[in-house]
Amino acid sequence: MSQINVAGRRAVQVSAMNDTNLIARYDGRVPRYTSYPTAPHFSPQVDAVAYGQWLEALPEGAALSLYLHVPFCDRLCLYCGCNTTVVLKEAPKRLYAAHLQREIALVAARLGRRARVTAIHWGGGTPTSLPGDCLTGIMAQLRALFDVAAEAEIAIEIDPTSVTPAILATLAEMGVNRASLGVQDFCPEVQEAIGRHQSYAQTWRCAQAMRGLGITSLNLDLIYGLPFQTAESVARTARQALALGAERIAVFGYAHVPWMKKHQSLIRDETLPDAAARFAQTGIIRQILVEEGGYVPVGLDHFALPGDAMAQAAREGVLHRSFQGYTTDAAPVLIGLGASAIGTLPRGYVQNASSVPAYNAAIARGEFAVARGVALNAEDVLRRGVIEAIMCDLAADIPPSLHDDAAGLARFVADGLVQWDGHRLEVTERGRPFVRNVAALFDAYLQPISGAPRHATAV
Ligand SMILES: C[S@@+](CC[C@H](N)C(=O)[O-])C[C@H]1O[C@@H](n2cnc3c(N)ncnc32)[C@H](O)[C@@H]1O
Ligand code: SF4
Repeated sequence: MSQINVAGRRAVQVSAMNDTNLIARYDGRVPRYTSYPTAPHFSPQVDAVAYGQWLEALPEGAALSLYLHVPFCDRLCLYCGCNTTVVLKEAPKRLYAAHLQREIALVAARLGRRARVTAIHWGGGTPTSLPGDCLTGIMAQLRALFDVAAEAEIAIEIDPTSVTPAILATLAEMGVNRASLGVQDFCPEVQEAIGRHQSYAQTWRCAQAMRGLGITSLNLDLIYGLPFQTAESVARTARQALALGAERIAVFGYAHVPWMKKHQSLIRDETLPDAAARFAQTGIIRQILVEEGGYVPVGLDHFALPGDAMAQAAREGVLHRSFQGYTTDAAPVLIGLGASAIGTLPRGYVQNASSVPAYNAAIARGEFAVARGVALNAEDVLRRGVIEAIMCDLAADIPPSLHDDAAGLARFVADGLVQWDGHRLEVTERGRPFVRNVAALFDAYLQPISGAPRHATAV
């Protein structure tokens, strides 16, 4: 179990050789398309006043999905690209939780009704770094001010290194029914280089504890492209992940953006695998999850067991993509709560102030904390639909008004990455790793905003 087999290694080498050209030509910096237009195109023109009007204009029966961001961790992992800081003291956490409650009340008041909620997602940072009574207090308030459906998905991101019996009791009281465990990599050398020590046994205990809470949909996050990772080391991690029996596994490419996340500069460039090595790593992980684990590839970077709702949604063409990545949640409105949280409304996107003091200050004044956003026009909506279909279904019908953009498909077709009949495009299995590049053809905003790179590499 601890070594990839020889046949597997040979297959990776051959495929790496075949794909070297592809990697060189498609390894541009392209967005992950968790929204369209993407976040770098948000501007302060969309402000708290616009957000209030957009909330008021929501159709009466629209189901809502809620995202709550907790930007605190007990430690900082060197690779981390999330909006978070190390906070150990309780007082600032309680202060932030109080502001979250105030923001929830502001949203509910502006909606003017007890709106139906079908999904609640706690992300971060590490949501369980908030005191337990804050978490349960916020959930109780959500249930009081919103009509939280009995079957609502209540999901939370968990750091397996910090789960305690008290946290488990809190999760049970919150009614959490989905959990995502951060794993990344089990190799000690990699863990040392990324400043995250997490044993397999610790992770296994955490997964068991989640099962004890009745959680039937468990997700694991893995990362490839981290310092010192090799095809062999990620293969070992992938096999260990299989043994945890999660319903879903997300496999992210390490986004090394030290110009945005200063702490990432502590990861030395020369320890990072190059594009070809990254490509081989994603290939071997995928091979193990699919062939040995029976997982189904979903979109760009997810894998799900065939009976899981995400695999089902992918089969039925009803998968969605939001700021949390791939989701089965079909709610047309996502309300973002907390610092840096992004909301999706029919009229456009809004993002709260990223810094906790700025967020707290706006909410304390009784105002929304929106710092930027973008209003959607008809063309944005059209392009967004095409891009979401490509990212989720790996296929899209291209409306005639976008056929000029589709001209760019020619080289993808020549490379065997896409099939195109003049109306509908279908990304092939060989093209799956390049699905962002295909989507980017239909992105009208993609021209560089400034000289600095904005996105991590495509593969
Ligand atoms: C909020 S964290 C997960 C919860 C918890 N804080 C933890 O670390 O276990 C969300 C996930 O984002 C992913 N992630 C963070 N930084 C990343 C980066 N620079 N590149 C790719 N994935 C990243 C990791 O897989 C991580 O598990
Ligand atoms: S990966 Fe998770 S625990 Fe580590 S710093 Fe980022 S949010 Fe915090």
